[in-house]
Amino acid sequence: MSQRILVTGGAGFIGSHTCVALAAAGYVPVILDNLCNSDVRVLERLHQITGSTLQFIQGDVRDAALLARVFAETPFAAAIHFAGLKAVGDSVSDPLAYYDTNVGGSLMLASAMRDAGVNTLIFSSSATVYGEPEHSPIPEDAALRPASPYGRSKLMVEQALVDLYRSQPGWRIALLRYFNPVGAHESGLIGEHPHGKPNNLMPFVCQVAVGQRDKLQIHGGDYPTPDGTGVRDYVHVMDLAEGHVAALKHAEIQSSLVTLNLGTGQGASVLEVVRAFERASGRPLPFEIGPRRPGDVPAYWGDPSLAQATLGWRARRSLDQMCADSWRWQQRNPEGYR
Ligand code: NAD
Ligand code: WQD
Repeated sequence: MSQRILVTGGAGFIGSHTCVALAAAGYVPVILDNLCNSDVRVLERLHQITGSTLQFIQGDVRDAALLARVFAETPFAAAIHFAGLKAVGDSVSDPLAYYDTNVGGSLMLASAMRDAGVNTLIFSSSATVYGEPEHSPIPEDAALRPASPYGRSKLMVEQALVDLYRSQPGWRIALLRYFNPVGAHESGLIGEHPHGKPNNLMPFVCQVAVGQRDKLQIHGGDYPTPDGTGVRDYVHVMDLAEGHVAALKHAEIQSSLVTLNLGTGQGASVLEVVRAFERASGRPLPFEIGPRRPGDVPAYWGDPSLAQATLGWRARRSLDQMCADSWRWQQRNPEGYR
């Protein structure tokens, strides 16, 4: 029988793409999401892509009674825990909300899993746990010094799960540190649609390209990088999604706790992203170079070799494909799922 996987936050950007990858690999994803940053209409799109109706539970991952019921009703093989808040700036102005949802929600989920005897957990961590790295590519054993409450909330959960594993080594846990996820499913049916003005580069670029915003503000052109703009490790969301499937398969083989970078291992500058997007969309992307954004790191990218050695996974999709897929999604869904 196909294994059921609880996907918290499965209606969101990375979670919805991971549901597609799970279904393609023969798993049955079950989504639990409170829709605080997503749209229920993603379910219709997932149906169109996968050909099946995914079970959806609308609820909060901090609701212990709900989790107990969910685990009692369905024999889950594992949980993938995406549900959380992710805006760095909001975490500075409202840290308690971030610790409550990200730390509190994760502890609640792990407790419910322990009580139900489900011991495979894949956790969405972030490269933000490294803070400003000494050098790139960043290996997993680099210093951890997150610079925001958001980043610290991710590190706290990692630490709690390491302690849990040490106390009960029967657990199978993967802590996946994503770099900069972008792109969309190649169908153009699902993608990223942030509420309000986007903070992140790719959604902003998409909105400029489709004419919803006049121009991109490049945050700083005087960094010590080849063209002066910030450098990041952009990774296609479908590569990330497949990384979760690889982590699940690894967990099926042996009890372990693994901490892995999921990135391409290559940095791209803001100007390189702009040029790639222009190639993908066939239209010029107006931009202006402004001041640096407070708190930004000049450049970082990950070393994904441990993920490749451990999971046999590596990111395969190019920056051009990330831009082409983002553009297809944006063009077909200028208002997101609305
Ligand atoms: P997203 O906001 O699109 O998805 C998160 C989902 O979780 C949303 O559907 C939201 O409604 C849901 N959610 C939030 N709080 C909840 C709660 N208390 N109970 C139930 N559901 C809840 O974000 P995403 O980009 O898909 O990120 C998924 C995970 O990956 C997050 O944990 C995020 O911190 C982490 N991450 C994201 C990035 C990135 O740049 N997108 C990078 C590194 C790590
Ligand atoms: C990328 C580059 C900007 C917007 C954030 C979080 C991190 C992780 C991923 C969750 C930088 C530049 C951006 C714009 C620009 N999320 N930029 N104009 O800051 O690397 O990482 O998302 O874990 O925790 O901090 O991503 O997309 O915001 O920025 O010039 O309008 O694009 O300065 O160089 P970032 P980003």
